[in-house]
Amino acid sequence: MVFFRIPFLFASFLCFFSLLVSGSSRNFPILDFEEGYNPLFGDDNLVLLKDGKSVHLHLDERTGSGFVSQDLYLHGFFSASIKLPSDYTAGVVVAFYMSNGDMFAKNHDEIDFEFLGNIRGKDWRIQTNIYGNGSTSIGREERYGLWFDPSEDFHEYSILWTESLIIFYVDNVPIREVKRTATMGGDFPSKPMTLYATIWDGSTWATNGGKYKVNYKYAPYIAEFSNFILHGCAVDPTEQSSSCDHSQKSIPIPSGMTPSQRAKMESLRKKHLTYSYCYDRIRYKTPPSECVINPDEAERLRIFDPVTFGKGRRHRGKIHHHSHPRQAESASA
Ligand SMILES: *[C@@H]1O[C@H](CO)[C@@H](O)[C@H](O)[C@H]1NC(C)=O
Repeated sequence: MVFFRIPFLFASFLCFFSLLVSGSSRNFPILDFEEGYNPLFGDDNLVLLKDGKSVHLHLDERTGSGFVSQDLYLHGFFSASIKLPSDYTAGVVVAFYMSNGDMFAKNHDEIDFEFLGNIRGKDWRIQTNIYGNGSTSIGREERYGLWFDPSEDFHEYSILWTESLIIFYVDNVPIREVKRTATMGGDFPSKPMTLYATIWDGSTWATNGGKYKVNYKYAPYIAEFSNFILHGCAVDPTEQSSSCDHSQKSIPIPSGMTPSQRAKMESLRKKHLTYSYCYDRIRYKTPPSECVINPDEAERLRIFDPVTFGKGRRHRGKIHHHSHPRQAESASA
């Protein structure tokens, strides 16, 4: 039995070591699907695997599919490992996001990870965005090129949301931080939200503004989800409580990032940030108040800044929000 023990000890050591290196986010409890989530739409196109820990979301001619958290959360750390559909995926949209659009039609909040499919041979693009209190006239999108093929393996996508900041992570490395500023007012998400994951037909806007449509010859498109973490303050929807008692948690919700995580974020953004609303002078003559202008990023993303650099072109993204995944679905059916 000795040969069993050694790998086990070695594995424990690796585990411990990776905790030290990656900060705190890896030690949150991982839930079975049914402990945290319910199916949302798509019937049979949502497939729960036998282990209870993984879900496949299918998109075919009939419908996409999606799931939603059982609880509403005010702040916390939320995460899933996701493997995206491969090959030709133009027009396919996979989203992992928080929203309260079903409760607040006019002044909802939202925090998004969106994966925009692409024509064969081109990479998936990843987009993050937030809305607060119905601020849908101000898109706060950022886009990134990925440094891996997200359809080849599972990668972890996480959102940290506190009273004062939002951090997006890929494989536990922060890629974006939004710090709440006083002038943002209600634009910083502040009401309890549920978690969603969906796959749907975004032909009208996802890939080059709708130039390439979903081709159902390659269906079903399958996005795989596992490693569900919902480490937040669950709130009672009828109470609308607005405080999060962090002390209840045996593993505290992080309050921000470490200097070494920040250094990683900065070097990653230097290479992989491809669009940020903060440098888009076509949309915003003056960057919204929360923008922290980084000269390196400004220089690299100057195609979006005709004012300062005089050679802009319209970016091809479109504003979109996820408050009605079912409508998005039926609109495309
Ligand atoms: C949010 O929106 C509602 C309705 O539009 C408004 O009454 C309220 O003052 C806003 N809250 C904040 C914090 O801006």
